[in-house]
Amino acid sequence: MTSLLEELQLADAMPAHYLTAPADELHARAKRARELLGDRLYILGHHYQKDEVIRYADATGDSLQLSQIAAQQTADFILFCGVHFMAETADMLTTPEQAVILPDMRAGCSMADMANIDQTERAWRELQELFGDTITPLTYVNSTAAIKAFVGRNGGATVTSSNAVEMVEWALGRKERMLFLPDQHLGRNTAVKLGIPLEQMAVWDPIKQKLEAECAVEDVRVILWKGHCSVHMNFLPKHVQNLRANEPDRNILVHPECTHEVVSISDYAGSTKYIIDTIAASEPGSKWAIGTEMNLVNRLIQDYPDRDIVSLNPYMCPCLTMNRIDLPHLTWALEELVEGRVINRITVDPQTADEAVMALQKMLDK
Ligand code: 13P
Ligand code: SF4
Repeated sequence: MTSLLEELQLADAMPAHYLTAPADELHARAKRARELLGDRLYILGHHYQKDEVIRYADATGDSLQLSQIAAQQTADFILFCGVHFMAETADMLTTPEQAVILPDMRAGCSMADMANIDQTERAWRELQELFGDTITPLTYVNSTAAIKAFVGRNGGATVTSSNAVEMVEWALGRKERMLFLPDQHLGRNTAVKLGIPLEQMAVWDPIKQKLEAECAVEDVRVILWKGHCSVHMNFLPKHVQNLRANEPDRNILVHPECTHEVVSISDYAGSTKYIIDTIAASEPGSKWAIGTEMNLVNRLIQDYPDRDIVSLNPYMCPCLTMNRIDLPHLTWALEELVEGRVINRITVDPQTADEAVMALQKMLDK
């Protein structure tokens, strides 16, 4: 299987003139190319994408919704406005004849990069020695296809922030313990929601190759991979405390990729879809501070002008890798398709895909 680094080295290079063309010209060209491609093309857009890109999406969604939509697509080309692991998932859930395109190969995810397959196999061997056959592995979909395949061949499943509670319940119903990759925070927040005490959660550090546990090893029920989202880590307890002191009537709504310290003192926590649905259902005039990616928060501010919405961190930036997909790269990918050239195709080798799909299917069947 090609690594992300190899894919980057092989990636097609966008001609420089796309970067200097005025935005209105690029919009006109992108629109024209989109029309010419008709129903041979389907564009998927994650909610964290920029406005200049998301407006071209045929469907928008969070990770779970986008994988469900990808699995039903029949178009020849699926252009993914999102990040690399999402495009890999779309490739694995579509037929080999359908091409999945990521307009900029640099749109990776730092969280997904925090668990590589060698580290994971090594951790699994050590955990098996320590705990025997008592662990079900679960991986957040924000992981590479190789990690999803590892989970699939070891009887586990994928999860997203929308179905984490259901999937963790499933894993712990099967075996005494679970290993949750690669986001320790989603794993911890979900386990707490299910009533598992923090003391029964250990952390596997892939750099030190060491289990950090506060209880006796036999009492560990949840093993959390030491990974995190660099975007959601920017929301801190002090942001919540400041708002509580200055504006006690502002509701605080965060994504479960934030730390447990932040989630436990916020009013509401849930997936991207949950955040959008909560704002949609809120009263006009209500006040909100949202702890998630900034493109989405800005869009909610625009879409709901009668709600008073701010970011929980006033100095928050968008996710840098999501932002790699911009109007120049989108226009380039579309115009190349019109010319019959597929750039930046994402493919997962069949063996990895077969095993990863076992893990994905368990989640999609729920
Ligand atoms: P969801 O789409 O599952 O909410 O995940 C958020 C995220 O960080 C995507 O990269
Ligand atoms: Fe990865 Fe976090 Fe960006 Fe999502 S928001 S793509 S988890 S770095």
